[in-house]
Amino acid sequence: MSIRLEMRKMTKQYGDFLANEDISFTLNAGEVHAIVGENGAGKTTLMRMLYGMEPPTSGQIYLDGEPVSFDGPNDAISHGIGMVHQHFMLFSDFTAAENVVIGHEPKKAGFFRRKDAIDTVNKLAGQYQIQVRPNVKVADASVGEQQRIEILKVLYQGANIIILDEPTAVLTPIEVKGLLKNIKNLAEQGKSVILITHKLREVMEVADRVTVLRNGKVTGSVNKEETTADELAKLMVGRELQTISDRIQLNGNSLLEVNELTIKEKQEKPLLDRISLSVRRGEIVGIAGVSGNGQSELLQAISGLRKVNGGKVLIDGKDVTNQSVADIRLAGLSHIPEDRYLWGAAKQATVEETGLMGYQNKPDYNNKSILLKKQFRSLLSSWIKKFEIKTTSINEQAGNLSGGNLQKLIVSRELGQETPLLLAAEPTRGVDIGAMEYIHEALLQKRNNGDGILLISSELTEILTLSDRILVIYEGKIVGELTREEATEEKISILMAGGSKQ
Ligand SMILES: Nc1ncnc2c1ncn2[C@@H]1O[C@H](COP(=O)(O)OP(=O)(O)O)[C@@H](O)[C@H]1O
Ligand SMILES: [Mg+2]
Repeated sequence: MSIRLEMRKMTKQYGDFLANEDISFTLNAGEVHAIVGENGAGKTTLMRMLYGMEPPTSGQIYLDGEPVSFDGPNDAISHGIGMVHQHFMLFSDFTAAENVVIGHEPKKAGFFRRKDAIDTVNKLAGQYQIQVRPNVKVADASVGEQQRIEILKVLYQGANIIILDEPTAVLTPIEVKGLLKNIKNLAEQGKSVILITHKLREVMEVADRVTVLRNGKVTGSVNKEETTADELAKLMVGRELQTISDRIQLNGNSLLEVNELTIKEKQEKPLLDRISLSVRRGEIVGIAGVSGNGQSELLQAISGLRKVNGGKVLIDGKDVTNQSVADIRLAGLSHIPEDRYLWGAAKQATVEETGLMGYQNKPDYNNKSILLKKQFRSLLSSWIKKFEIKTTSINEQAGNLSGGNLQKLIVSRELGQETPLLLAAEPTRGVDIGAMEYIHEALLQKRNNGDGILLISSELTEILTLSDRILVIYEGKIVGELTREEATEEKISILMAGGSKQ
């Protein structure tokens, strides 16, 4: 097999910080080479150098054995390198076909040839079996279709090397399957694909080779056939992963009862349509759904952030419908909020103040209105240690923490409340897999202690890993319930898309 691309000893330094250090990497024709690593490992940085967006501090790129250097992305594109970014770069008012050909439009006598553009898109789509409607306006296309438009665009530009940066992070499980199939197809037809992800299952399904980065360095580069997901995880994290705690079935009384909860604004379709559910002691109930189907409203209604028009919420038997956030918390609720900036922390508050939220009135930390700072600080530093929260000092502004570190702080604070009921919305969004494991472990331990958790996550894997029961929400209604035993990704995906349980 011929080596199409080689990167030799690539280094990128920002100030004193080495984002990439002596990274070497090769890519063959017709190969899928995955690059995996935790958040901040340096994956995107390496790709930005390859795509001509950043000059390397040192190192050399070779294409077909010839040394090259790129003076911007257009230069990289003209050398056959294409990149689909984490955030798409399409024009939402334009059609798929217009977006694909933009910059190199087919023209005749100076006029744009729409029909030629559409024909070209259809031809490419057919050749690589990538389904795109050429006339769809990007604003009306699903995220999955937008991604396929990006891929066609890169193919139209003549790419032989296609970089996909975390492409599956934004997709539903069914769309992920489709994308992985597209990737295999591209490779079979001779394209080389660099797939960046931290999802090892996808890697094991589609990659030929895998390179693992940690802290800006390569910790391993292996053939997929000769490795396992466990080994890759170890290379990513730098230590053995623990096993998830054994599950104990407790089957206790109901901690949360939601009855016929309805939120409706004026004449519109209800945002929540007579939702009923319960969470018992010793149980994690997961709510699966494509985001935007009422999950946010449900959490806001339960936690007192939003008034409801009908129905009831009971916590530990106490009616808390439309009560204040403070009263609901007192009834026994803690809450890892969906939007950590909006509800989880005041940006200008310090790390210490953010951690303290909710602890001011606890007897252990407040003696006759005098805050027991020392006690609180020792609790705070235990969280920082356990979750490896990266902060320069507890007086740093919480808003300066990276998203993942702020999330770890909020999760520690809410778990530390030791309430019987926890609402956990996207508890591991943006955190690295080491921290994800700690958080999952902590949630399971809480459950095993007899507490109840209502979990909302757009990561179906997370729902399947943690939940004892799974409810599926669609257009403001609960459309299905599955036990842990009967739940499969397939069944849930169908319900998530509005189909019926089979
Ligand atoms: N322009 C920049 N200036 C300073 N630091 C940066 C810059 N770009 C990235 N970094 C740092 O480099 C590290 C690697 O980032 P990145 O390559 O985006 O990681 P990944 O894609 O693996 O999550 C991070 O710690 C990030 O903060
Ligand atoms: Mg990245």
